[in-house]
This record gives sequence, C-alpha cells and structure tokens, in this order.
Amino acid sequence: MKKLVILSGAGISQESGIKTFRDMGGLWEEYDINEVATPEAWERNPELVMRFYNDRRKQLLGCEPNKGHYGLAALEKDFDVHIITQNVDDLHERAGSSKVLHLHGELKKARSSVDENLIYDIDGWELKFGDRCKHESQLRPHIVWFGEQVPAIEEALPIVHDAEIFVVVGTSLNVYPAAGLLNYVRRGVPVFLIDPNPVDVYSKVTFIKEKAGKGVEILKNELKKYL
Ligand code: OAD
Repeated sequence: MKKLVILSGAGISQESGIKTFRDMGGLWEEYDINEVATPEAWERNPELVMRFYNDRRKQLLGCEPNKGHYGLAALEKDFDVHIITQNVDDLHERAGSSKVLHLHGELKKARSSVDENLIYDIDGWELKFGDRCKHESQLRPHIVWFGEQVPAIEEALPIVHDAEIFVVVGTSLNVYPAAGLLNYVRRGVPVFLIDPNPVDVYSKVTFIKEKAGKGVEILKNELKKYL
C-alpha cells in the first residue's frame, strides 16, 4: 500500500459546524489571539482562556464528523493513511481514521502546568479551576499556544518525508512549523490541495477548489491511478 499523508486544518471540520480561524467570520475575528491562545494570556487572565476552550469543547461535543472526515478514513482500505492535523477536535478519530497525529494538542484533554507529559482526559465539556495533576498543580487545556514549542513536529517530519502521496486539506498554511511540512515532501511526490479558497503555495500541487466534503470525493477518484 502506498503511504498517503494528509495535512489537515480547520477547513476539514467547517462542514461539521466548527468555525475556522482566518476566514471571514472566523474565530480570530471574534477573539484576540493574544488574549486566549498564548501562555501570557493564561497567566494574565486564566478565567477567559478557560472559558474560551470550555466553550470550544462544549461545541465540539455537539458536532459530528462530516463527509470529508469519513472519506479520508475510508481511504485506509487502499492506502497507508497518516493524518497530521492542526485541529484540536477529535473528528478524524471519530470518523474512523486510525493514525492521527495532533500538532496543536487536543481539546478533550488537559495537561499539567508543571509537567507537560502529564496528560488527562477531560470528562464532559468543562475543565475547572481546582482540577489538578498528581503534583497538585492546576490543569490547563492541552493546546499548543502561540509562542510555544510544537513537540509533535519531530514525529511529523519523518512521516512527511516518507510520503508517497501528500494531501493538504482545509488549512490556510499560515501557521508554522505546520505550514513548513510541505517543504519536506520529497520531489516528485504528487501533492493535492483541497480548499474552496486560493492558498499560496510555492510547490506544484493539484488544486481541488472545493469544500472538503466534495473535495475528498474528487480526491478519491484522482487517487485511483496510484492504486
Ligand atoms: P485557518 O482558519 O487559517 O484556515 C482554514 C482554511 O480552510 C482556509 O484556507 C479556508 O479557505 C479553508 N476552508 C474553509 N472552509 C472549508 C471547507 N468547508 N473545506 C475545506 N477547506 C475549507 O485554519 P488553519 O490553517 O487550520 O492553532 O489554522 C492553523 C492554526 O491556526 C490552527 O491550528 C490554530 C490557529 O490559530 C492554534 O490555535 C494553536
């Protein structure tokens, strides 16, 4: 089976009712990144940061995977599919994808604020003040905030390097190091990009200008020639 690597972003979950970040009406129009998605924000105003992520989690619990997520999961029948996602939702997993690497953390998890390796599942939507790790420190959302390291990038690099087919879906490629993964795709490897809007890329890609639901269906057809 050929190794098919997918880099996904907020756009794949848009048809599930989750807002993207940088589109018109996106989350970063409503909220200031510096006030909700940085370690400084957590120090300055933890209540606001906690509420922001609790709201996102509450919303996620009411969302279902869409045709795009299911279509990518179904590709496992014919390909060795690896999903590298910038998303913090669990919709790829719920659609049945078995190899999902989260670059930016996971909304349904919390982690210790003194030991980043201590990660806990959150029961329900609410992470509360007073929820503590085994060292008695307050748990924080398990999210990679702006200005923080992206430890999973180390795991992502060899996956991308070994890709035989590469797909980018639903990301504006604005945020590094995730966006830079495209530069690690080996020369000659076919690259597909699914997005209803133009995305700036400097490498040769087959652009499928559709939303993820329809775009993944088109991709599936395009991939027949690599079976
Ligand atoms: P963006 O909001 O920057 O980009 C979303 C992309 O999805 C855009 O290119 C849209 O055109 C496209 N899009 C919109 N609807 C779509 C649909 N139905 N199907 C397919 N594509 C669609 O989101 P990301 O690139 O994921 O990080 O953002 C990267 C990171 O920035 C996020 O992980 C988050 C954010 O700040 C953190 O919070 C750390």
